[in-house]
Amino acid sequence: GPGYPQVVVLVGATGDLARRKLLPGLFHLSRSGFIPGCRIIGVSLDQHDVEAFRTLARGALDQFSARKATEAEWAAFAESLDYVPLGAGAAALRAAVDQARASFSGESRVIHYLSVPPEAALPAVRLLAEAGIADGARIIMEKPFGTDLASAVTLNEKLHEVFSEDRIFRIDHFLGKEPAQNILAFRFANGLFEPIWNRNFIDHVQIDVPETLGLNQRSRFYEATGAYRDMVVTHLFQILGFMAMEPPTSLEPAPISEEKNKVFRSMLPIDPANVVRGQYVGYRSEEGVDPESETETFIALKCWIDNWRWAGVPFFLRTGKRLAEGQRIISIAFREPPKSMFPAGSGVGAQGPDHLTFDLADASKMSLSFYGKRPGPGMRLDKLSLQFAMNDTGLIGDVLEAYERLILDAMRGDHTLFTTADGIERLWEVSVPLLESPPPVRLYQPGSWGPKSIHQLVAPHAWRLPF
Ligand code: BG6
Repeated sequence: GPGYPQVVVLVGATGDLARRKLLPGLFHLSRSGFIPGCRIIGVSLDQHDVEAFRTLARGALDQFSARKATEAEWAAFAESLDYVPLGAGAAALRAAVDQARASFSGESRVIHYLSVPPEAALPAVRLLAEAGIADGARIIMEKPFGTDLASAVTLNEKLHEVFSEDRIFRIDHFLGKEPAQNILAFRFANGLFEPIWNRNFIDHVQIDVPETLGLNQRSRFYEATGAYRDMVVTHLFQILGFMAMEPPTSLEPAPISEEKNKVFRSMLPIDPANVVRGQYVGYRSEEGVDPESETETFIALKCWIDNWRWAGVPFFLRTGKRLAEGQRIISIAFREPPKSMFPAGSGVGAQGPDHLTFDLADASKMSLSFYGKRPGPGMRLDKLSLQFAMNDTGLIGDVLEAYERLILDAMRGDHTLFTTADGIERLWEVSVPLLESPPPVRLYQPGSWGPKSIHQLVAPHAWRLPF
């Protein structure tokens, strides 16, 4: 276990992510007994005092915590919160950390969590070094880990001057989702699909994460980031890594990273001709958005993993804001039989290939579709499906939310579900052609599935969504 009480220095403590996920997550971890003790020092640009920070945290828990706090639980959590405005400087931060550590009778560990936009990451690291609270501490970094190859390389170099790689935890919360980890279990614990997990049997793969969500209060961050950096270079490529990697020699962090990074090294650079960038109508008039913004709120692309297993198999990725449905699916389309023996009009072929579909929503689901005979005279086929839903199994116990799981892993020093400097740099390298000459954004109506050209992108295949 993590063994020691933890002092968490949360930089960006009043931001959207902190309120939505980090404060509720730390609250749940603190009261669940997973860690023997926890004190949180909030740091941000806001000129708050401790009381104002506690009020903000209370509001965050009330709004976003799945399990409501009792008054006693809240009182204990509130007592563990401290706050240092960024302007107060290194010495004040140091004093707060010393005080938090002194509150524990024995040894404790310090973990920094940087929940800040890319341009604020290095200044924050410098502040930690200057305060003398980096030595021996761990650090959790939030995506997008730079904004392009050059900035990612610089970020890693500067970061390594202060933290060794084994103390750095680059978080990708998609890898903390139970259904994402279930991909590994499914692929490597079962013999059935192993022989067909390759170009000989799989026609194409889709990783499709449409969101109905808009920007809430994140427009400043989003305007500078866009859908590609926010979702693809981070979450979607990591999921692709799990789907496509070779079996690791063991389920240890180093072998898993090695296999994932091999996938990234085999990826062909993203060809801008294989990318559709979109922006929803109305985005430009939102607060904090440039009226002539070229930031994409939608992206769909085709990419290739040019190795023996996947040569010639396109991977289609899509994600965007204000779309028709919120879904997170991975869909594997199998190759169609070499020759159809069913008469025209029997129904076969009309709806495309068979699929295996993983649903990454919290309630993990999987389905396998196939053709079967419709009861009645003659030979008419229907698309049928085998369905699995984790919710129906009674196996769900005290599930940790993705962020909780990953913060706990970082506190325990377990890198299994985190990404390495090399892997991240390779993904930015793959992104170079797209970032250098991005195709123009095409408008789409909120509530749609994106710009019209998404259909050409996948032709002669079709998008699996909507079901
Ligand atoms: C975040 C992105 O990392 O992931 C958001 O910054 C996005 O824009 C979110 O909405 C999606 O996460 P989840 O867990 O809701 O699928």
